[in-house]
Amino acid sequence: MSKLSPEESAHLHPETLALSLGFDPFLSEGAVKPPVFLTSTFAFKKSEDGKKFFAWMRGEGGAPTGKHQAGLIYSRFNNPNLEIFEDRMAMWEGMKGACSFSSGMAAISTALLATHVPGDEMIVCAPLYGGTETFMRGFLTKFGIKSHFIHAGVTAVEEAKKFFGPATRSIFIETPANPNNKLTDIEAMKQLAAAHSRPDSGAVLVMVDNTMAGPVFSQPAKHGADVVLYSATKFIGGHSDVVGGVALANDMKLLKAITGLRNSLGGMPNPHTAWLLTRSLETLKIRAEAAATNAQKCAEFLAAHPKVRAVSFLGLLKPGDAEYAIYQKQQTGPGSLISVFVKGGEAEAFRFLDALKVIKLAVSLGSTESLAQHPAAMTHSGLTPEAKKASGVSDDLVRISIGIENADDLIWDLRQALEQM
Ligand SMILES: Cc1ncc(COP(=O)(O)O)c(C=O)c1O
Repeated sequence: MSKLSPEESAHLHPETLALSLGFDPFLSEGAVKPPVFLTSTFAFKKSEDGKKFFAWMRGEGGAPTGKHQAGLIYSRFNNPNLEIFEDRMAMWEGMKGACSFSSGMAAISTALLATHVPGDEMIVCAPLYGGTETFMRGFLTKFGIKSHFIHAGVTAVEEAKKFFGPATRSIFIETPANPNNKLTDIEAMKQLAAAHSRPDSGAVLVMVDNTMAGPVFSQPAKHGADVVLYSATKFIGGHSDVVGGVALANDMKLLKAITGLRNSLGGMPNPHTAWLLTRSLETLKIRAEAAATNAQKCAEFLAAHPKVRAVSFLGLLKPGDAEYAIYQKQQTGPGSLISVFVKGGEAEAFRFLDALKVIKLAVSLGSTESLAQHPAAMTHSGLTPEAKKASGVSDDLVRISIGIENADDLIWDLRQALEQM
């Protein structure tokens, strides 16, 4: 048992609780860190216990006492490593519960399938991660779930109003949007959703993919999000060495629906993945803050460089800029993604990318090392030319995810690559 009472725990900060929440060393031989529970199944002391645990899992009866000692059944349904990671994610987000997944796409696809039925419609802020868009446009459309794509940013709320109807089931937001860093007002979208929720047709859900900001800089549930989704592969895992995902909700019925479908589809992470993600949560705050400080310096350098046409970085927003008010309300820091528009087109952008020596040429983001890529030719190459234009995915755009290296070394690298461009 933890020496901290629930009242004492309530006063502690996430970076403190991330080191202890949900794990009792004395249930594991005094181990200070959670062991990896590499087991597919769990022994019941009595048949009655097994019966009780299964009933609890189906949503009948109360939780068995001592969640991490009791109620464990089978590692597709639950496992101590998954539960510790889920408890700590819920704590970081300030939400009631989390469900872990084997990837961000497993979390997103399962959450969408668990909350929509054929005939439902979604309003989706674009640009968004290509895999999510492909799933919506391809798979969900085939099953009779229609997506209306609108533009992320300050105009999103007005645009969304045009698509509301009796079949609207959800608004899907990625903020900041990938790769153009546009911010969408979650609170205003929630008000719109609440105004269109009806007793006969049910609630309109606000679903937010918070991968790009991460829980250190933004907690969407505080602004009204019903479901928060993550690719834990990015800032949560943070070392480019693990693929994972998470879905979080405050409404336990909603979370149960998502967890139930995960358990049926089998999209849970394995215990070792959950252990790695739990370990990474211990350093989440210092990694996120160090990367954001570096990114601010790099963005300022890039914005002043004569070979750069424009830079989109949240830390460069100023009072009076269209999205400044949303940034102030919704985020406590800029994150570490920089969209750089070089002078020229694809050829110049490729020369710049190929000349980088410290920053690695690779997709993905949110890691300790800096990564750079060309969205139009890589992550967003599946978009139609019209969608690319609408989302600002131009040939001169390079997306850089800044890591925790020395900022001067990163600036040296950016300078020498721009000179060669
Ligand atoms: C914003 C966002 N959401 C979801 C995903 C999908 O996550 P995963 O690759 O872990 O399945 C990604 C991956 O790049 C992403 O950038």
